[in-house]
Order: sequence, then C-alpha cells, then structure tokens
Amino acid sequence: MASDGVLLDARGITKVFGGVRAVDDVSLRVQTGTLHALIGPNGAGKTTLFNTLSGYARPERGTVVFRGTDVTRAPNWQRVRMGMGRTFQTPSVFPELTVDENVRLGVRAYAREAFRLRTPRGEAAAAVDRRVDELLGFVGITGSRERSLAVLSAGTQRLCEIAMSLSTDPALVLLDEPMAGLAESETDRIITVIRDLRERLGLTVLFVEHNMRVVLSLADRITVLDRGKLLAEGTPDDIAANPAVRDAYLGEGVLDHV
Ligand SMILES: Nc1ncnc2c1ncn2[C@@H]1O[C@H](COP(=O)(O)OP(=O)(O)OP(=O)(O)O)[C@@H](O)[C@H]1O
Ligand SMILES: [Mg+2]
Repeated sequence: MASDGVLLDARGITKVFGGVRAVDDVSLRVQTGTLHALIGPNGAGKTTLFNTLSGYARPERGTVVFRGTDVTRAPNWQRVRMGMGRTFQTPSVFPELTVDENVRLGVRAYAREAFRLRTPRGEAAAAVDRRVDELLGFVGITGSRERSLAVLSAGTQRLCEIAMSLSTDPALVLLDEPMAGLAESETDRIITVIRDLRERLGLTVLFVEHNMRVVLSLADRITVLDRGKLLAEGTPDDIAANPAVRDAYLGEGVLDHV
C-alpha cells in the first residue's frame, strides 16, 4: 500500500515559547500510505510539532509542504480542506451531546461546503445521514450512537473523535496520543481502527504514542524527538536498536519490555 510519494514534508521546523525551543530544527517526511509514529519523552515537542503541521501554531523557522503545496502560513481550515485531519491530546468532543450528534456536527460542517449549490436539500440531508452511518460503522460505535458521550468510556470517546476527524474526508490523519489513559481492551480497538484507516480507507496516519510495544508493532516509520530536537528516524527495527533512543528513554522503562 505504501508508495514513494511524500504526502507531508516538514523541513527545519523551529517553534519557540519564550526562551524554550519546544521544537528545534526538526524535519519530518511522511510517505503516502504509511503509519508513521512520532515518539519522545514528555515535553519533547510532539504536540507542538503537530500544531505547526496542522496550522494551530506558526513556526518561527521552517516550511511545511502538504501534497506538494507550501502550507506553512496557511490557516488550519485551509489544511483541513486540502485533506489533513487531526485529533487532540485532550479530547475535543462535546460530552453533553450524543455520539451521533457529535459526528453529525462534523459531517454537516463539511457537507455544507461539499454539497451546497450542487445537491437538492433532501438529497444533501440523506447524504449526511449516510456519511454519519458510515463513520460510526467504521469505528464500530453505531450501538452507542444515541448515548451522551459523557456517560461512555474513554475508548468510545476516542473512537468518536476519530470518526469526527474523518468527517472532512482527509488523506492524512494526525492522531495525538489516541490511546492515552485507555484500558487494554480499548487500546486494542484503537490499534485495529488505525490499521483499518490505511487498509480499508487508504489513509496515511501520523500518530503520537508512548507505549513502545504498540508503536513498534503498528508503525512503518518512527520519528523520535528529544528536548525539541530530532533524535532518530527509521524503521521499528532501527529505532529499537538505536542507542541514543534507548538513552533518551532511560529511566522511563518504556523499552524494557520490547
Ligand atoms: N503554549 C505554550 N507555551 C509555553 N510553552 C509551551 C507551550 N506549549 C508547549 N510548551 C512547552 O514546549 C515543550 C514541548 O511541549 P509539547 O507539549 O509539545 O511536548 P510533548 O512531546 O507533546 O509532551 P507530552 O508527551 O507530555 O504530550 C515543553 O517544554 C512545554 O512546556
Ligand atoms: Mg503532547
């Protein structure tokens, strides 16, 4: 499924907060059709890099090229429209609304643009219904659709958020710690969904994850950050054997079991 095409190419990204170089001259290249993991100890700059890639933060230096277009200065909505979706480390769903309502909000917002002027009102509504069904079915939460998110498990909330990130029909999805704080059975479900994003939907995925066993079994490529800097990039085998990576994680115990 992987091809030689470069979907996202970030070069020399630097993002500074006050005196802190949260991201310091980092380059990251995501190939079309890959599951690419971004890892590193707490505070390494993973979320900040995600923010510069998706348009939530503007880097002081560096360029972000998405699908061949320089989007470094493009706002988030423009990148979304070009096919970049994302989820957040802190869930950004509406807990008081139902699963169905949350996903429908995303689909409607996108459909307003995609269907407007071209499709009669009734047909557009039916298309929204179909798309909501499709997305809920894809992540496997159709049975919970009428329940408020607040009463559901963290895993179901994550799945709902992934469904929402798909509502804009992305080619690339950025997932920031989609498995954080989940029970093991829920983690397995998210792993399956990430695999399905590629196998069934043909998407490319860039994800942040701390569990090294998950990362090494799921990712085709791994980029490692440490204190804002690029520490290593390679296949799971390269990364597991890399002494600098093992050093950076020393004390956290995350590589002890792999
Ligand atoms: N808005 C901000 N203002 C000031 N400093 C920030 C801001 N966002 C992040 N930082 C700092 O930048 C550095 C990188 O933070 P970031 O959240 O990107 O790390 P991370 O790798 O995502 O960590 P974690 O694994 O804990 O999620 C940290 O030192 C953090 O305190
Ligand atoms: Mg983070």
